[in-house]
This record gives sequence, C-alpha cells and structure tokens, in this order.
Amino acid sequence: MESHTTALLKVENLSKKFLVKKTLFKKEFFKAVDRVSFSLDYNQVLGIVGESGSGKSTIGKLVLKLLKKDEGKIEFEGKDIYSFTREEEKRFRRETSVVFQDPRTSLNPRFKVKQIIEEPLIVHNFPKEEREKRVVKAVKDAGLDETFLDRYPAELSGGQRQRVAIARAIVLEPKMILADEPTSALDVTVQLQIINLIKSLKEEKKISFLFISHDLSVIGMLSDRILVLYRGKVMEKGVAKEVLKEPLHPYTRILLASLPPDHPSQRKKLEEVPEVYRPEVDGGCVFYSRCPVAEDRCKTEPEYKKIGDREVYCHFA
Ligand SMILES: Nc1ncnc2c1ncn2[C@@H]1O[C@H](COP(=O)(O)OP(=O)(O)O)[C@@H](O)[C@H]1O
Ligand SMILES: [Mg+2]
Repeated sequence: MESHTTALLKVENLSKKFLVKKTLFKKEFFKAVDRVSFSLDYNQVLGIVGESGSGKSTIGKLVLKLLKKDEGKIEFEGKDIYSFTREEEKRFRRETSVVFQDPRTSLNPRFKVKQIIEEPLIVHNFPKEEREKRVVKAVKDAGLDETFLDRYPAELSGGQRQRVAIARAIVLEPKMILADEPTSALDVTVQLQIINLIKSLKEEKKISFLFISHDLSVIGMLSDRILVLYRGKVMEKGVAKEVLKEPLHPYTRILLASLPPDHPSQRKKLEEVPEVYRPEVDGGCVFYSRCPVAEDRCKTEPEYKKIGDREVYCHFA
C-alpha cells in the first residue's frame, strides 16, 4: 500500500461565525465553529458527532469550500485549500465529494439515475466512452444493478436513492467523501446497509470519509476516530474504540449513556447521568451549563489536555 507522510485533510483552529442580528449600532454574531482542529488520514473514517446545531454541517461545508472560513487553516494533501492554483482547485473538486442526508432533495428529480451519476463526469470533461464505463461501475459498486440507470429518483426507495447519491459521489474516484447525516432519514435496517456500504468503499477503494451524525451509535459502527462536538467546540477526540470504551469528557459520557443498552460498543455499564441546567458563565467552559460534574473552576475555560493521542476539553481530564 502507498504510504503517506501527511494527513489527507488537516484542519487547524478553524472558526466560523454567522451574523444573527444587525442593528444600527451593533452586529451580533454566533460562533458556529470555534477553533476546531483535527486531521483525517488516508483510508480512514473520522466520525463527527454532536447534537443538532453543534456546527457539524458547517465544518463539512468549510472543508469542502462550500462556505468561506473566517479563521484557521485547512490543508488537503499538505496544501492550503485557499491558496490552490486553478489546476489544484480543479483536482480538489475531483478528489472530494459529498453525500447529504436527504437524497430526495439532493438528487435532481427530472434526471434519470444515469444522468445523475454521469453529471460530475461531464463537468470534468470525461469522454463519452469512459463516462459510460464509469457510470455502470459506480452504480454496481453502490450495490445496485444496471437496470436502475433508466429510472427516476421518485421510483426508488429511500435506501436506493441514497445508493444513487453514493454512486454519484464515487464516480470520479475521490479520495475523500463528506457524508453529512447520510443515514439519518432512513429506517434502521436500511441504515445498516448504507453503513456497511460505506465501510466496504473505505476498505476496497481506500476512500476516506468525514462522516457526520448526531447519532453516536451510528458513528461508533464505522469510525476509526471520533470527534465530539458541542456548540462549535471539540469536546473530545481520539481513536473511536478508546473514546467509546472510556469516554473522558462528561458530554461524551452523556451521549454514550443515552445509547440503547444492547449497543455493540464495548462500553462498561454507565451510571445514570442526571440532566443539569445551570446559568452559563461568560468565559467559562462552554459545557458548564449542562455539565453534571461542573465545579467552580469550570467558570474558566479549560485548555485542551492531551492524554496519549486523545485530546479533551475538560478541567477534570
Ligand atoms: N448560513 C447560516 N446563517 C446563520 N446561521 C447559521 C447558518 N448556517 C448554520 N447556522 C447556525 O450555526 C449553527 C450550527 O449549524 P450546523 O452546522 O448546521 O449544525 P449541525 O449540522 O450540527 O446541526 C446553528 O445554530 C445554525 O443555526
Ligand atoms: Mg447538520
């Protein structure tokens, strides 16, 4: 196997705020992503987990340049994505793709499956013969047969539609796919099929995934590494198995404790975690208001602590 000395994707201190209110005298901003750092290696799945509104999709859009960053650095194969030449920009577009939550809205309903999968190849000027070959291969690699090429999205089930979205995402043979809640609109059994498909694409095609979900059980099933996000901030990140086995941040413990008891992560039986709501403290830990174990020192912001290859945002870690 090829060996790589740099990460496929490296993100450092990435921040993004949105304007939420503007009056004559002042502007109010909301920090959607706050100094987030992580890296995604070749042939790896990084799971980003956090509740709705925690900034997951914003991170995804920032790393694919679908949204402009405010601050921080994003490198793809060692190159700053904001200082690409035109050639490098084109290559970046070819080597990255995305699968969204709801294939009903992400697939053009007026296109047949063949056109949907072929479109990126046309954009990137592939000759007709090569396009035909690749479309057939992609649809099969996504677990469908050729007869689907002649159908419209409306004629397909939710799982089949998501397979079409995946076929489209792999047709250019990308190095990285952003999968933003790709299973969240699906039934549990179909969810599992799509998770297995993503696992096999990683194994067989060596594609790396930035896999976003609000559901830690889904994240746990396919991630090599996990990043736990809360209000735009990294709470904890590390090797998936270790984070699941021994969560070090109280928020990760809460997420884990809320999984169904028969979940396959080899967690120890976790104590019941009481729900806590207390007033926020400016400049304190962002999790302070909901943390079951917070103390006075948590009214100041914790530094990231490195424990082996884990990083934790907590005074107690
Ligand atoms: N374009 C935007 N303008 C203003 N606020 C936004 C915009 N996009 C996202 N937000 C806000 O940023 C926060 C994070 O959003 P998002 O990244 O979509 O979270 P998640 O994907 O984790 O649910 C939310 O509070 C959301 O309302
Ligand atoms: Mg989202």
